[in-house]
Amino acid sequence: MMQSLLLSFLNVTESAAVSVQPYIGRGKEYAADAIATSTMRKVLNEIEMNASIVIGEGEIDDAPMLYIGEKVGTGIGKQLDIAVDPIEGTTPTVNGQQNGMTVLAVAPKGDLLHAPDMYMRKMAVGPKAKGKINLQAPLIDNLEAIANANGKTINELQVLVQERPRHDKLVEEIREAGAKVQLFLDGDVVYTLATCLESSDVDLFIGTGGAPEGVIAAVAVKAFGGDMQAQLLPRDEVEIKRCHEMGLDNPTKVLSLDDLVKSDDCLFVATGITESLILPGLKVGKNTIESHSMLIHGVERKVRYVNTSHNIE
Ligand code: FBP
Repeated sequence: MMQSLLLSFLNVTESAAVSVQPYIGRGKEYAADAIATSTMRKVLNEIEMNASIVIGEGEIDDAPMLYIGEKVGTGIGKQLDIAVDPIEGTTPTVNGQQNGMTVLAVAPKGDLLHAPDMYMRKMAVGPKAKGKINLQAPLIDNLEAIANANGKTINELQVLVQERPRHDKLVEEIREAGAKVQLFLDGDVVYTLATCLESSDVDLFIGTGGAPEGVIAAVAVKAFGGDMQAQLLPRDEVEIKRCHEMGLDNPTKVLSLDDLVKSDDCLFVATGITESLILPGLKVGKNTIESHSMLIHGVERKVRYVNTSHNIE
């Protein structure tokens, strides 16, 4: 099982987050992303495994490192698929705002959706509402089903939506139905998995965001016992072709959580760069940087929080 690799992957996200620390608030998105990516790649290559990047920094032509299809690890050991986001929330990180983190998800080879970098419609709920959502059904039906499952009225439902003009109509519809909307600016991995945290009192995440972030978040949702559905939104022939090249015969099919992540034997690891709903950010001391991480293994269904002091002398 994957569990034995938890600490190795923790070292990957921690190292990448610590490497980004000097870039917090400095406005340099490209440089911050480059250091996180190269650190992540270096540490991934030290792990005894035979792994491929299935979700990474882009296609080989435009991503020099951690490109889709790149082999990582020593080449000996378990055959794995890895999805990485060296900085989820690059803009807030370099603007010194909340919701910057390094994140990765791992599953046995062939068990993660190979999603191209395009938009995806998605909805996610916590464990109580598992099996109750349907991306193809009207919004009101979903809200009713989630309210019943969570023991609430529709008026009491808290729905998370990314603040984007493309969501204006959706937000209006949710509010007209009587539910509350909490808008967030960036970092939809955090807000997708917030649906599974009892402490967050969130009932639904819904909207259109990055497909790579969707698959990474799906691993966390699966490991928490929540539920998610998604649908890729290719915008033109070029994007449809990319879906076909990645093995998706029907690119606009509604994807279940099992389509996004096949195996329960999956890992989700995140380290906070700046503070978020799920993790504190990096804390800089005189000779150390303190990091906070979250580790989840889908079979164990345990969430571990790890607090590490990194020597930076
Ligand atoms: P990055 O990791 O590229 O910084 O993405 C941040 C993010 O907010 C994602 O969480 C989300 O899926 C995506 O951007 C939304 O895209 P857009 O900014 O184009 O609306």
